[in-house]
Amino acid sequence: MLSVLSRSFSRSSKNSLGNRSVLIVGAGVAGPVLAYFLHRYGVHPVVVERTPQLRTTGQTVDVRGAGREVVRRMGVNSVIREKITREDGLALVDSAGRTQAAFGVKDFGGQGFIADIEILRGELVNILYEQSRNHTQYIFGDHPSSINDQGDHVQVTFASGNIRDFDLVIGADGIRSKTRRLLFSDKSPIHYLNMYTAYFTIPYSQSDGTWARWYNAPKGRTVLIRPDNQGTTRAFLTFRSSQRGYEELDPDMQKELLQKVFADAGFETPRVLNGLMNSNDFYFEAIGQVKMDQWSRGRVTLVGDAGYCASPVSGMGTTLAFVGAYILAGEIGRHHDHTEAFRQYEALMRPYVTKAQKLIPGSIHVASPQTSTGIAFRNALLSFVARPAVTRLLTKLTESKTAEKVTLPDYEIVLAQ
Ligand SMILES: Cc1cc2nc3c(=O)[nH]c(=O)nc-3n(C[C@H](O)[C@H](O)[C@H](O)COP(=O)(O)OP(=O)(O)OC[C@H]3O[C@@H](n4cnc5c(N)ncnc54)[C@H](O)[C@@H]3O)c2cc1C
Ligand SMILES: *[C@@H]1O[C@H](CO)[C@@H](O)[C@H](O)[C@H]1NC(C)=O
Repeated sequence: MLSVLSRSFSRSSKNSLGNRSVLIVGAGVAGPVLAYFLHRYGVHPVVVERTPQLRTTGQTVDVRGAGREVVRRMGVNSVIREKITREDGLALVDSAGRTQAAFGVKDFGGQGFIADIEILRGELVNILYEQSRNHTQYIFGDHPSSINDQGDHVQVTFASGNIRDFDLVIGADGIRSKTRRLLFSDKSPIHYLNMYTAYFTIPYSQSDGTWARWYNAPKGRTVLIRPDNQGTTRAFLTFRSSQRGYEELDPDMQKELLQKVFADAGFETPRVLNGLMNSNDFYFEAIGQVKMDQWSRGRVTLVGDAGYCASPVSGMGTTLAFVGAYILAGEIGRHHDHTEAFRQYEALMRPYVTKAQKLIPGSIHVASPQTSTGIAFRNALLSFVARPAVTRLLTKLTESKTAEKVTLPDYEIVLAQ
């Protein structure tokens, strides 16, 4: 692998690469990781984030497989380890709160329903920002209103009225990427999964203990309650609906909708709905996957959710953002020609993304069945899975699957040659 990578790299191009400037749109997960590695490879990164401050809301996200290797190479493994949420596992509960099945963190080799790196999105984003900010120009409260690829550079006009030239522009601006819309004006590549989700923080209650608790109510409704490491509890509601466009409503109407949808759901839902009305970090999204034939056009490309959102159902979104940003930075670092850099980035990332986006057949049905019978069936299925022998078998299967997913090139070695 490495010999293939170093063959196309030439020393002469390395020196002329140093002055290149790259605009990264979005300071979520992919943006700061990309900025960090670009600087390491001698490219000058500028990050523009639409919100006035770092956007640190969100639930727990997990980092799996090759994503953990990127975390190590970025030098943030120990700070992240200090902030992991330390849940003991996930319990499936019935309407009375009784445990139907339980999965410990260590089951499935730390790669199961609850991975062993589970961290609040806000804490992760903050760590990645801190690790990259010394060598990155961060601009908050602004965004590109137009992106003009002039062939030999890209001219970006910002909402503030500023106009600047960059060698490359990378959209790291999430599932609803504006960069993607400016670049590919054709129809939206978001494939909706007919499911909505809402995240928010509620006060901790004794019953929250140290386990995540997952409850399925009939009609495809799910309530997930997770104690965090800050003395509060993260609530997560999902429901199935083929009705389109709820994500466009204003937050008050979305809260009202959730009140209606979950009114008779049972379990601790009344408490969650009460917390919903008082929460100040409410986030609502239509669950979907972004699928594109090509992530790049000219001097502009996409990374993370903007290019290939896998949805929370896959549990791979944050991992793809880490791995995608790492590979993209490395390819930009070692190719003077951006066409070649973007081509290699797609070639290395595409199979990994395709695999991550492949949802286990019927997994949506398993995660939130439509009927009580479905729920009973699912819980029965999962209590079978929770038996130690089955767990051991599945651990083996998931381990071998993760190992073969992607090979991370070592760009430090390649660039030092
Ligand atoms: C507020 C929020 C909460 C989330 N909560 C969860 C969660 O609880 N669980 C989960 O699994 N996933 C969650 N996600 C998604 C998760 O962060 C991503 O799936 C994954 O980490 C990939 O990250 P990303 O950097 O590609 O995109 P994101 O993390 O979505 O980051 C995109 C960034 O770009 C910024 N941005 C958007 N448009 C523009 C623009 N036009 N110009 C400049 N900046 C722009 C956004 O403000 C954001 O900071 C959340 C995303 C957001 C934005
Ligand atoms: C950034 O710079 C400050 C001040 O020089 C320093 O204390 C800090 O350790 C640096 N951060 C990183 C991640 O290098």
